Amino acid sequence: MNSLSVEQQARAAKAYIIQELNKSNVGINILQDKDFFTRLDVHFITIFAIFAELYGYRNDCLDQLVDLIKVCGKSWQERNLELRKIDKQRESEPEWYMSNRMLGGVCYVDRYANNLAGIKQRIPYFQELGLTYLHLMPLFLAPQPLNDGGYAVSSYRDIQPELGTIEELRDLATELRKAGISLVLDLVFNHTSNEHHWARKAAEGCPEHSAMYWIFPDRTVPSAFERSTREIFPDDHAGSFIQLADGRFVWSTFYHFQWDLNYSNPAVFRAMAAEMLYLANIGVDFFRMDAVAFMWKQMNTDCENLPEVHKLLRAFNALCRIAAPSVLFKSEAIVHPDFVVQYIDRDECQLSYNSLQMALTWEALATRDASMLSQAIERRHNIARGCAWVNYVRSHDDIGWTFSDEDASELGKEGASHRKFLNAFFVNRYPGSFARGVPFQDNPKTGDCRISGTTASLAGLESMQDHAIERILLAYSIAMSTGGIPLIYLGDEVGQLNDYTYLNDPAKMDDSRWVNRPFYPKSRYAERHDENTIPGRIYAGIKHLIHLRKTTVELAGGRAVGFYTGNSTILGYQRPGPRSTVLCLCNFSDEPQWIGKERFMAMPSTCEDLVSGHKIDLRQAGVQLRAHQFMWLKH
Ligand code: GLC
Repeated sequence: MNSLSVEQQARAAKAYIIQELNKSNVGINILQDKDFFTRLDVHFITIFAIFAELYGYRNDCLDQLVDLIKVCGKSWQERNLELRKIDKQRESEPEWYMSNRMLGGVCYVDRYANNLAGIKQRIPYFQELGLTYLHLMPLFLAPQPLNDGGYAVSSYRDIQPELGTIEELRDLATELRKAGISLVLDLVFNHTSNEHHWARKAAEGCPEHSAMYWIFPDRTVPSAFERSTREIFPDDHAGSFIQLADGRFVWSTFYHFQWDLNYSNPAVFRAMAAEMLYLANIGVDFFRMDAVAFMWKQMNTDCENLPEVHKLLRAFNALCRIAAPSVLFKSEAIVHPDFVVQYIDRDECQLSYNSLQMALTWEALATRDASMLSQAIERRHNIARGCAWVNYVRSHDDIGWTFSDEDASELGKEGASHRKFLNAFFVNRYPGSFARGVPFQDNPKTGDCRISGTTASLAGLESMQDHAIERILLAYSIAMSTGGIPLIYLGDEVGQLNDYTYLNDPAKMDDSRWVNRPFYPKSRYAERHDENTIPGRIYAGIKHLIHLRKTTVELAGGRAVGFYTGNSTILGYQRPGPRSTVLCLCNFSDEPQWIGKERFMAMPSTCEDLVSGHKIDLRQAGVQLRAHQFMWLKH
């Protein structure tokens, strides 16, 4: 083994790479580009060290690294001036995404607006709403009709023809930017579709492409792996592998047409880095790092959240710092909270879905008890500096009850039976339930099940129960006030209901998540300015929250401090700001609830409830909240 330090080895490798760059046509401009070189100087060591750790045992390690840096240099050369300007701007304002002015929206291009041209036409609406961040669900070339909502990608450089072209995407990114809206796209890099040309070549038996996936000649190794892996989509196939036409077996964590990439092969890392940087140069501001937990496999483990995944993400992140410095990552790790937090770091993923807070908001609505949510905010909310949660109420996916059993048991709740209760409640198999959800991947073998349904249907709007609108606004008030970036599933702001038409489509009927991926609700949007209608009431409520958030600096950043209300149905948390603090109180009960004045003794006596505009004397009389009322008390 080499006795040089990592720094010395990195220096030597860099000198060699520069020599190689000089020889290739990437070299000339890049070598004169001071900015590129300064950033390469800072971040090369990260990439080198990770490459050495993951691939150092292979004799092609250095060659792969040379190719990788070439890809990086070429990508920087191709980055346009407009994007380079943004790179510079954000360098001087590195925490720009922590602003209280940030507001996210997410939608499917086809379902929300037919195609990219349609999305462009909706920009005035996005501005009306106040969006600064737009996540377009996967829009790349994918197999038809089965493609897991686009998460089976056949080419990262081609758009699904009905949606538009890559040039239209580039143009859309520019138009969004002009409107002050960042573009967010998925980087689906755990797997490709079986129609990606790498996969097609692999299926034909090409050794180079077979090595890009986890392919085995028979069941011996797959069965050994499956002794410790989890079934993710058991309705589609048992275990983690599927059989190819030629008898071999390929790793497939999700649907059988999604094949997991083999990152223990550095050629895969290099190939995906090229795809990522290509998309970064289209004008993507944030990548949603899809299904990160599964990217590394190791025998006798569950093959989830392994330490190598973090190394891969850090190396991808370092590449962006060099060749597309303003681009940020959002991790999609819908796993146990102990693992979720491990992805959140400025050098890894600066943003992360706050799936725990999302799930526990629904838990609290079902139980009318805010203890678990309160514990999560107290214990699990504060993350690394400069990082932010993406706080949401619903996404395109199912809701999984990913809370920690240990946390639950401290509050006297037994994990498995509590999940069972929640599943029964949300699919309306519990007496008195207001929710109209649908089970997803109900696995009788393990008792595992998750929940599909739109915000409005889960909150009771479909069952015509009282309080549904209040519940929707209560849930969104939490997403809007707990810092980071609040994310609206577009359509929620007008109370979009479940769409059961997926049951008539053979390509969708077995995936209940389509129930919460409805089409653009035209008539609901048409009523949004009329407060005598249900969509109008919800829209007015959401718009009010957005306005308050954007004008309340205390709601920026990410720090939340727990506030013990002494009443388990009322959630309390504080958002300390530069000059004052906002105390948020949310009543999850269907009845009015009290907090006694003794809880407020340490506070200034009067404060203003930003939500209602009323002044309140907390120390005089305590505070009463109506059913599902929330207050943002500024003092
Ligand atoms: C992510 C997506 C989900 C998809 C899965 C596989 O979890 O959110 O919709 O099925 O990845 O790509």
